[in-house]
Amino acid sequence: MGKRDPGRVYIFDTTLRDGEQTPGVSLSPEEKMEIARQLDKLGVDTIEAGFPITSKGEVEAVRMIAHAGLKAEVCGLARCEKSDIDTALSCDVPLVHLFIATSDIHLKHKLKISRDEALKKAVWSVEYAKSHGVTVEFSAEDATRSDRNFMTKVYSEACAAGADRINVPDTVGVITPQKMGDLIRHLKKSINVPISVHCHDDFGLAVANTLAGIEAGAVRAHVAINGIGERAGNASLEEVTMSVQCLFGKKTGIRTPLIYDTSRMISRITGVVIQPNKAIVGENAFGHESGIHTHGILNLPLTYEPLNPELVGRKRWIKAGKHAGGHGIASQLEAMGLQVNKEQIREIVVNVKAIADKGKNVTDSDLAALARSVIGQTQKESKIVELQDLAVMTGSNLVPTASVKLKISGETYVGADTGIGPVDSAVKAIQKVTHDLIDVRLKDYRLEAITGGSDALAEVTVKVEDSAGNTGSASAAGADIVVASVEAMIDGINKVLARSTRDLEKAVKAD
Ligand code: KIV
Ligand code: ZN
Repeated sequence: MGKRDPGRVYIFDTTLRDGEQTPGVSLSPEEKMEIARQLDKLGVDTIEAGFPITSKGEVEAVRMIAHAGLKAEVCGLARCEKSDIDTALSCDVPLVHLFIATSDIHLKHKLKISRDEALKKAVWSVEYAKSHGVTVEFSAEDATRSDRNFMTKVYSEACAAGADRINVPDTVGVITPQKMGDLIRHLKKSINVPISVHCHDDFGLAVANTLAGIEAGAVRAHVAINGIGERAGNASLEEVTMSVQCLFGKKTGIRTPLIYDTSRMISRITGVVIQPNKAIVGENAFGHESGIHTHGILNLPLTYEPLNPELVGRKRWIKAGKHAGGHGIASQLEAMGLQVNKEQIREIVVNVKAIADKGKNVTDSDLAALARSVIGQTQKESKIVELQDLAVMTGSNLVPTASVKLKISGETYVGADTGIGPVDSAVKAIQKVTHDLIDVRLKDYRLEAITGGSDALAEVTVKVEDSAGNTGSASAAGADIVVASVEAMIDGINKVLARSTRDLEKAVKAD
């Protein structure tokens, strides 16, 4: 490796090794290769490609990645065992990551060897791997639960045997940031090679502990995309990288605009879903709903965005909901190409909050439908036909029956009819009541459930036609399909009436 830059933090990516140890995840050599290429594009310094001794497929994958001509340094993991080291070397990796546990719990209950035997194995393995000309990174597994003096001795002797760098694993995620800082400062007193930190997230502290290690002088962070890994996972690449860059003002080699695409790719290939509130790559990480926040964001993104979404390949989005305000809703509608005035925005915000108060999620499509329906309603201020009341009866042993009360040019009319379903009976009841004014038929009817679930918001679009061939299209949205259908139908009738009135006026003028 060339000269190290003191202002730079090196990213050792273990998505393909510890990340693949996520319960339920198993990658084919081809999938590993595809991910390795993306990690290389992303700019990681090291790709820990796998643990070659585990299977033939793993050997194939690690070898393929080692021979792919990537810019990143490719690493294979090996226990302090000759067979592991030979298998890793057979993959032609330039870097071998050697590990042996140093905690008494592991020595006694897992390896069943003494501290002395562990020390000898560590020294022998480093010497053996180094005699094959590779770079060696040495880890004292379970370092954070090990006796400090013994662990320090193992690291010192591994370095004396030729280890090029050491890694401090918090194998079961039990250290805290202050203790991690203290441990790294302690090791730096006797260790003269670069130090890496490898933190697990069992207590949700993996990123904090990694950053504490870096602040204390570690130069390399072991991380995995989306924080995948054994149990609760590893420190996430995206969180560590962005914290190092934005909060510490240090450099990494990561091309941060590729972070989001890489995260999606790993999620797709591994099947590990990303929680919506996950920092940097979660769906909600750059989403805003509350009126106060969206107003601030629209004035100056920095008010509520500590980090520009584009820096990590993302876009901010604003969502309608219970906490929404006029500014946010207006900007969402503008982005959708919907023109609304202040009055209409106020009405839309009231409708959005009413829907959200029922516990419903208001999607973009919901918002667009609500807006269209409000725009439609306000346009028909001088409507000839207005709905005053609607009642529908339906059931397995009942013929669906609807009755409607309509105001037509100021007069109230009531009518009822039956049909094959509640919508059909309501449409027929409307036709019956309006028959003397206009003879309309339903030419087209489209119903869309905008969101999933039995409380989905429905958008109904209709096309009505009178006997002279005048047509009017209208749509309405709401949680009740029958009400939305009736509103759309009446709106359509009003459009046809307006059209035929205009035609009549033109004809009169022409005479
Ligand atoms: O968590 C751990 O201790 C490891 C070792 C292999 C370094 O992953
Ligand atoms: Zn690990």
